[in-house]
Amino acid sequence: MDVSTVKSIASVMLTGKTKVAGVFGDPVEHSLSPLMHNAAFRELGMDWVYVPFRVKPEALGAATDGVRAMGIAGVNVTVPHKVAVMEFLDEIDPEAQLIGAVNTVVHREGRLVGYNTDGQGFLRSLRRQAGRDPKGATVLIAGAGGAALAIACSLALAGAGSITVANRTVAKAEAVAGRVKGHVPARAVSLDPDDPAFLDALGEAEIVIHTTSVGMYPRHDVPPIIPVERLAEDALVCDIVYRPRETSLIRAARERGCPVLTGEGMLAYQGAIAFELITGQTAPEELMLQVLQDHLAEERI
Ligand code: ATR
Repeated sequence: MDVSTVKSIASVMLTGKTKVAGVFGDPVEHSLSPLMHNAAFRELGMDWVYVPFRVKPEALGAATDGVRAMGIAGVNVTVPHKVAVMEFLDEIDPEAQLIGAVNTVVHREGRLVGYNTDGQGFLRSLRRQAGRDPKGATVLIAGAGGAALAIACSLALAGAGSITVANRTVAKAEAVAGRVKGHVPARAVSLDPDDPAFLDALGEAEIVIHTTSVGMYPRHDVPPIIPVERLAEDALVCDIVYRPRETSLIRAARERGCPVLTGEGMLAYQGAIAFELITGQTAPEELMLQVLQDHLAEERI
Protein backbone atom coordinates (compact mmCIF):
# COMPACT_ATOMS: atom_id res chain seq x y z
CA MET A 1 0.00 0.00 0.00
CA ASP A 2 1.55 3.35 -0.96
CA VAL A 3 1.67 6.41 1.27
CA SER A 4 -1.09 8.31 -0.51
CA THR A 5 -3.48 5.34 -0.16
CA VAL A 6 -2.67 5.04 3.56
CA LYS A 7 -3.21 8.77 3.95
CA SER A 8 -6.52 8.74 2.16
CA ILE A 9 -7.71 5.83 4.31
CA ALA A 10 -6.44 7.51 7.49
CA SER A 11 -8.17 10.73 6.54
CA VAL A 12 -11.59 9.08 6.63
CA MET A 13 -11.01 7.28 9.94
CA LEU A 14 -13.30 8.37 12.72
CA THR A 15 -11.94 9.36 16.13
CA GLY A 16 -13.42 10.27 19.50
CA LYS A 17 -13.35 13.89 18.37
CA THR A 18 -14.98 13.43 14.98
CA LYS A 19 -17.71 15.98 14.38
CA VAL A 20 -20.85 14.83 12.60
CA ALA A 21 -22.97 16.55 9.98
CA GLY A 22 -25.48 15.00 7.60
CA VAL A 23 -28.60 15.23 5.50
CA PHE A 24 -32.21 14.38 6.36
CA GLY A 25 -34.31 13.17 3.44
CA ASP A 26 -36.76 10.49 2.40
CA PRO A 27 -35.52 8.97 0.21
CA VAL A 28 -31.91 10.00 0.72
CA GLU A 29 -29.93 7.37 -1.19
CA HIS A 30 -29.76 9.55 -4.28
CA SER A 31 -28.28 12.52 -2.39
CA LEU A 32 -24.95 13.80 -3.69
CA SER A 33 -24.35 15.87 -0.54
CA PRO A 34 -22.35 13.16 1.34
CA LEU A 35 -19.99 12.92 -1.63
CA MET A 36 -19.41 16.69 -1.78
CA HIS A 37 -19.12 17.35 1.94
CA ASN A 38 -16.90 14.36 2.76
CA ALA A 39 -14.59 15.31 -0.12
CA ALA A 40 -14.43 18.84 1.33
CA PHE A 41 -13.59 17.53 4.83
CA ARG A 42 -10.79 15.37 3.43
CA GLU A 43 -9.44 18.23 1.34
CA LEU A 44 -9.22 20.47 4.40
CA GLY A 45 -7.96 17.67 6.68
CA MET A 46 -10.96 18.11 8.99
CA ASP A 47 -11.94 15.43 11.49
CA TRP A 48 -15.58 15.53 10.37
CA VAL A 49 -17.96 13.11 8.70
CA TYR A 50 -21.16 13.72 6.72
CA VAL A 51 -23.84 11.04 6.96
CA PRO A 52 -27.09 10.45 5.01
CA PHE A 53 -30.08 9.94 7.35
CA ARG A 54 -33.30 8.52 5.95
CA VAL A 55 -35.92 10.25 8.10
CA LYS A 56 -39.59 9.36 7.68
CA PRO A 57 -41.96 12.35 7.83
CA GLU A 58 -43.51 11.15 11.10
CA ALA A 59 -40.05 10.95 12.71
CA LEU A 60 -38.85 14.40 11.67
CA GLY A 61 -39.42 15.98 15.11
CA ALA A 62 -37.60 13.16 16.88
CA ALA A 63 -34.75 13.27 14.38
CA THR A 64 -34.41 17.05 14.81
CA ASP A 65 -34.35 16.65 18.58
CA GLY A 66 -31.64 14.04 17.96
CA VAL A 67 -29.45 16.74 16.41
CA ARG A 68 -29.55 18.54 19.77
CA ALA A 69 -29.34 15.38 21.85
CA MET A 70 -26.37 13.89 20.01
CA GLY A 71 -24.50 17.09 19.37
CA ILE A 72 -24.66 16.80 15.61
CA ALA A 73 -23.09 19.99 14.23
CA GLY A 74 -25.67 20.58 11.53
CA VAL A 75 -27.74 18.94 8.86
CA ASN A 76 -28.98 19.65 5.41
CA VAL A 77 -32.65 19.00 4.88
CA THR A 78 -34.07 17.80 1.60
CA VAL A 79 -37.34 16.54 0.14
CA PRO A 80 -39.88 16.14 1.75
CA HIS A 81 -38.81 17.94 4.93
CA LYS A 82 -37.83 21.48 3.89
CA VAL A 83 -41.04 23.13 5.09
CA ALA A 84 -42.02 20.71 7.87
CA VAL A 85 -38.68 21.01 9.68
CA MET A 86 -39.25 24.69 10.42
CA GLU A 87 -41.60 24.08 13.35
CA PHE A 88 -38.88 22.13 15.19
CA LEU A 89 -36.25 24.89 15.04
CA ASP A 90 -35.43 27.67 17.51
CA GLU A 91 -34.71 30.38 14.97
CA ILE A 92 -35.11 30.92 11.23
CA ASP A 93 -32.90 33.20 9.18
CA PRO A 94 -34.88 36.02 7.43
CA GLU A 95 -34.16 34.77 3.89
CA ALA A 96 -35.36 31.26 4.81
CA GLN A 97 -38.44 32.88 6.37
CA LEU A 98 -39.22 34.69 3.13
CA ILE A 99 -38.74 31.46 1.15
CA GLY A 100 -40.79 29.56 3.72
CA ALA A 101 -38.42 26.58 3.65
CA VAL A 102 -35.15 25.49 5.25
CA ASN A 103 -32.44 23.33 3.68
CA THR A 104 -29.71 23.80 6.31
CA VAL A 105 -29.93 23.52 10.09
CA VAL A 106 -27.01 24.76 12.17
CA HIS A 107 -26.61 23.59 15.76
CA ARG A 108 -25.28 26.40 17.94
CA GLU A 109 -24.93 25.49 21.61
CA GLY A 110 -28.21 23.65 21.85
CA ARG A 111 -30.11 26.03 19.56
CA LEU A 112 -31.09 25.03 16.05
CA VAL A 113 -31.05 27.77 13.43
CA GLY A 114 -32.59 27.25 9.98
CA TYR A 115 -31.23 28.67 6.74
CA ASN A 116 -32.00 28.24 3.08
CA THR A 117 -28.95 28.13 0.80
CA ASP A 118 -30.74 27.06 -2.40
CA GLY A 119 -31.30 30.53 -3.83
CA GLN A 120 -27.90 31.73 -2.60
CA GLY A 121 -26.36 28.66 -4.24
CA PHE A 122 -27.88 29.72 -7.53
CA LEU A 123 -26.60 33.29 -7.06
CA ARG A 124 -23.08 32.08 -6.29
CA SER A 125 -23.16 29.90 -9.42
CA LEU A 126 -24.41 32.91 -11.41
CA ARG A 127 -21.57 35.09 -10.14
CA ARG A 128 -18.73 32.57 -10.20
CA GLN A 129 -19.54 30.54 -13.30
CA ALA A 130 -21.42 33.01 -15.50
CA GLY A 131 -19.73 36.17 -14.17
CA ARG A 132 -23.12 37.87 -13.82
CA ASP A 133 -24.40 40.17 -11.09
CA PRO A 134 -28.14 39.83 -10.42
CA LYS A 135 -28.36 43.50 -9.40
CA GLY A 136 -30.76 45.37 -11.68
CA ALA A 137 -31.24 42.36 -13.96
CA THR A 138 -34.49 41.65 -15.82
CA VAL A 139 -35.19 38.03 -14.90
CA LEU A 140 -37.60 35.41 -16.20
CA ILE A 141 -38.14 32.32 -14.05
CA ALA A 142 -39.90 29.35 -15.68
CA GLY A 143 -41.65 27.22 -13.06
CA ALA A 144 -43.13 28.03 -9.68
CA GLY A 145 -42.17 25.15 -7.37
CA GLY A 146 -39.90 25.19 -4.34
CA ALA A 147 -36.72 25.81 -6.32
CA ALA A 148 -38.29 28.71 -8.23
CA LEU A 149 -39.48 30.27 -4.98
CA ALA A 150 -36.03 30.03 -3.35
CA ILE A 151 -34.33 31.53 -6.41
CA ALA A 152 -36.92 34.31 -6.74
CA CYS A 153 -36.52 35.30 -3.07
CA SER A 154 -32.72 35.35 -3.22
CA LEU A 155 -32.76 37.35 -6.45
CA ALA A 156 -35.24 39.80 -4.93
CA LEU A 157 -33.08 40.32 -1.84
CA ALA A 158 -29.97 40.67 -4.05
CA GLY A 159 -31.54 43.63 -5.90
CA ALA A 160 -32.75 42.12 -9.18
CA GLY A 161 -34.43 44.74 -11.38
CA SER A 162 -37.62 42.78 -12.09
CA ILE A 163 -38.84 39.20 -11.99
CA THR A 164 -41.42 37.53 -14.22
CA VAL A 165 -42.57 34.09 -13.10
CA ALA A 166 -43.97 31.91 -15.90
CA ASN A 167 -45.76 28.71 -14.96
CA ARG A 168 -48.17 26.19 -16.46
CA THR A 169 -50.41 26.71 -13.42
CA VAL A 170 -50.63 30.51 -13.27
CA ALA A 171 -51.97 30.59 -9.70
CA LYS A 172 -48.67 29.13 -8.49
CA ALA A 173 -46.72 31.74 -10.47
CA GLU A 174 -48.87 34.39 -8.80
CA ALA A 175 -48.04 32.98 -5.38
CA VAL A 176 -44.28 33.18 -6.10
CA ALA A 177 -44.52 36.69 -7.57
CA GLY A 178 -46.66 37.75 -4.59
CA ARG A 179 -44.02 36.50 -2.15
CA VAL A 180 -41.29 38.75 -3.57
CA LYS A 181 -43.36 41.79 -4.55
CA GLY A 182 -42.36 43.75 -1.46
CA HIS A 183 -38.73 43.63 -2.64
CA VAL A 184 -38.83 43.74 -6.45
CA PRO A 185 -41.34 44.46 -9.24
CA ALA A 186 -42.75 41.01 -9.98
CA ARG A 187 -45.48 39.57 -12.21
CA ALA A 188 -46.91 36.20 -13.13
CA VAL A 189 -47.58 34.94 -16.66
CA SER A 190 -48.70 31.69 -18.20
CA LEU A 191 -45.93 29.42 -19.51
CA ASP A 192 -47.67 29.24 -22.83
CA PRO A 193 -46.00 30.08 -26.15
CA ASP A 194 -49.27 31.63 -27.34
CA ASP A 195 -49.50 34.04 -24.41
CA PRO A 196 -48.31 37.52 -25.52
CA ALA A 197 -47.27 38.40 -21.94
CA PHE A 198 -44.97 35.34 -21.88
CA LEU A 199 -43.54 36.25 -25.29
CA ASP A 200 -42.89 39.83 -24.13
CA ALA A 201 -41.12 38.56 -21.03
CA LEU A 202 -38.97 36.23 -23.16
CA GLY A 203 -37.90 39.12 -25.38
CA GLU A 204 -37.04 41.39 -22.44
CA ALA A 205 -35.22 38.87 -20.23
CA GLU A 206 -31.50 39.28 -19.51
CA ILE A 207 -31.41 36.17 -17.36
CA VAL A 208 -33.73 33.19 -17.93
CA ILE A 209 -33.89 30.47 -15.28
CA HIS A 210 -35.61 27.17 -16.00
CA THR A 211 -36.73 25.44 -12.78
CA THR A 212 -39.36 22.92 -13.90
CA SER A 213 -38.73 19.18 -14.08
CA VAL A 214 -39.15 19.16 -17.85
CA GLY A 215 -36.02 17.70 -19.48
CA MET A 216 -34.89 15.82 -16.38
CA TYR A 217 -33.54 12.26 -16.77
CA PRO A 218 -35.06 9.76 -17.60
CA ARG A 219 -37.53 11.95 -19.53
CA HIS A 220 -34.80 14.10 -21.02
CA ASP A 221 -35.58 13.54 -24.67
CA VAL A 222 -38.22 16.26 -24.85
CA PRO A 223 -38.24 19.67 -26.52
CA PRO A 224 -37.55 22.65 -24.21
CA ILE A 225 -40.62 24.46 -22.88
CA ILE A 226 -38.90 27.80 -23.44
CA PRO A 227 -38.92 28.89 -27.10
CA VAL A 228 -35.31 30.07 -27.28
CA GLU A 229 -35.83 31.77 -30.64
CA ARG A 230 -37.84 34.43 -28.77
CA LEU A 231 -34.90 35.30 -26.48
CA ALA A 232 -32.32 38.00 -27.06
CA GLU A 233 -29.08 36.44 -28.33
CA ASP A 234 -27.18 37.66 -25.30
CA ALA A 235 -29.74 36.44 -22.75
CA LEU A 236 -28.13 34.12 -20.20
CA VAL A 237 -30.02 30.81 -20.19
CA CYS A 238 -29.80 28.84 -16.93
CA ASP A 239 -31.22 25.36 -16.35
CA ILE A 240 -31.22 24.07 -12.79
CA VAL A 241 -31.76 20.52 -14.08
CA TYR A 242 -28.37 18.78 -13.81
CA ARG A 243 -29.26 15.25 -14.99
CA PRO A 244 -28.40 15.41 -17.85
CA ARG A 245 -25.97 18.29 -17.58
CA GLU A 246 -26.69 19.29 -21.17
CA THR A 247 -30.49 19.48 -21.25
CA SER A 248 -32.48 20.04 -24.42
CA LEU A 249 -32.91 23.68 -23.28
CA ILE A 250 -29.16 24.20 -22.79
CA ARG A 251 -28.48 22.64 -26.20
CA ALA A 252 -31.08 24.82 -27.93
CA ALA A 253 -29.80 27.95 -26.18
CA ARG A 254 -26.20 27.19 -27.18
CA GLU A 255 -27.32 26.66 -30.77
CA ARG A 256 -28.96 30.07 -30.69
CA GLY A 257 -25.67 31.53 -29.45
CA CYS A 258 -26.87 32.41 -25.95
CA PRO A 259 -24.51 32.10 -22.98
CA VAL A 260 -25.63 29.22 -20.72
CA LEU A 261 -25.36 28.07 -17.11
CA THR A 262 -25.89 24.38 -16.29
CA GLY A 263 -27.55 23.11 -13.14
CA GLU A 264 -24.84 21.34 -11.16
CA GLY A 265 -23.38 24.70 -10.08
CA MET A 266 -26.43 25.56 -7.97
CA LEU A 267 -26.20 22.15 -6.27
CA ALA A 268 -22.48 22.50 -5.57
CA TYR A 269 -22.70 26.07 -4.28
CA GLN A 270 -25.76 25.51 -2.08
CA GLY A 271 -23.63 22.76 -0.54
CA ALA A 272 -20.62 25.06 -0.21
CA ILE A 273 -22.68 27.71 1.58
CA ALA A 274 -24.22 25.07 3.89
CA PHE A 275 -20.69 23.77 4.61
CA GLU A 276 -19.63 27.29 5.62
CA LEU A 277 -22.66 27.77 7.87
CA ILE A 278 -22.24 24.39 9.59
CA THR A 279 -18.44 24.33 9.97
CA GLY A 280 -17.61 28.06 10.09
CA GLN A 281 -14.84 27.42 7.54
CA THR A 282 -14.46 28.61 3.96
CA ALA A 283 -15.63 25.81 1.66
CA PRO A 284 -13.28 24.37 -0.97
CA GLU A 285 -15.98 25.22 -3.47
CA GLU A 286 -14.03 24.46 -6.62
CA LEU A 287 -13.30 20.97 -5.31
CA MET A 288 -16.96 20.45 -4.37
CA LEU A 289 -18.02 21.49 -7.88
CA GLN A 290 -15.36 19.29 -9.47
CA VAL A 291 -16.34 16.22 -7.43
CA LEU A 292 -19.94 16.71 -8.45
CA GLN A 293 -19.10 17.24 -12.12
CA ASP A 294 -16.86 14.14 -12.15
CA HIS A 295 -19.59 12.08 -10.52
CA LEU A 296 -22.27 13.26 -12.96
CA ALA A 297 -19.92 12.63 -15.90
CA GLU A 298 -19.39 9.05 -14.65
CA GLU A 299 -23.13 8.47 -14.56
CA ARG A 300 -23.07 9.02 -18.37
CA ILE A 301 -26.59 10.44 -18.32
P1 ATR B 1 -39.25 21.82 -7.18
O1 ATR B 1 -39.49 21.84 -5.71
O2 ATR B 1 -38.07 20.99 -7.60
O3 ATR B 1 -39.21 23.19 -7.77
P2 ATR B 1 -42.03 21.23 -7.74
O4 ATR B 1 -42.41 22.02 -6.56
O5 ATR B 1 -42.63 19.86 -7.91
O6 ATR B 1 -40.48 21.00 -7.83
O7 ATR B 1 -42.35 22.12 -9.04
C1 ATR B 1 -42.31 21.57 -10.30
C2 ATR B 1 -42.46 22.67 -11.34
O8 ATR B 1 -42.35 22.06 -12.63
C3 ATR B 1 -43.81 23.37 -11.32
O9 ATR B 1 -43.63 24.71 -11.70
C4 ATR B 1 -44.60 22.60 -12.39
O10 ATR B 1 -45.65 23.32 -12.97
P3 ATR B 1 -47.14 23.29 -12.32
O11 ATR B 1 -47.07 24.20 -11.13
O12 ATR B 1 -48.04 23.80 -13.37
O13 ATR B 1 -47.41 21.85 -11.95
C5 ATR B 1 -43.51 22.40 -13.40
N1 ATR B 1 -43.80 21.31 -14.34
C6 ATR B 1 -43.71 19.99 -14.12
N2 ATR B 1 -44.04 19.30 -15.24
C7 ATR B 1 -44.35 20.23 -16.20
C8 ATR B 1 -44.73 20.17 -17.57
N3 ATR B 1 -44.88 19.00 -18.20
N4 ATR B 1 -44.93 21.34 -18.24
C9 ATR B 1 -44.77 22.51 -17.62
N5 ATR B 1 -44.40 22.64 -16.34
C10 ATR B 1 -44.18 21.52 -15.61
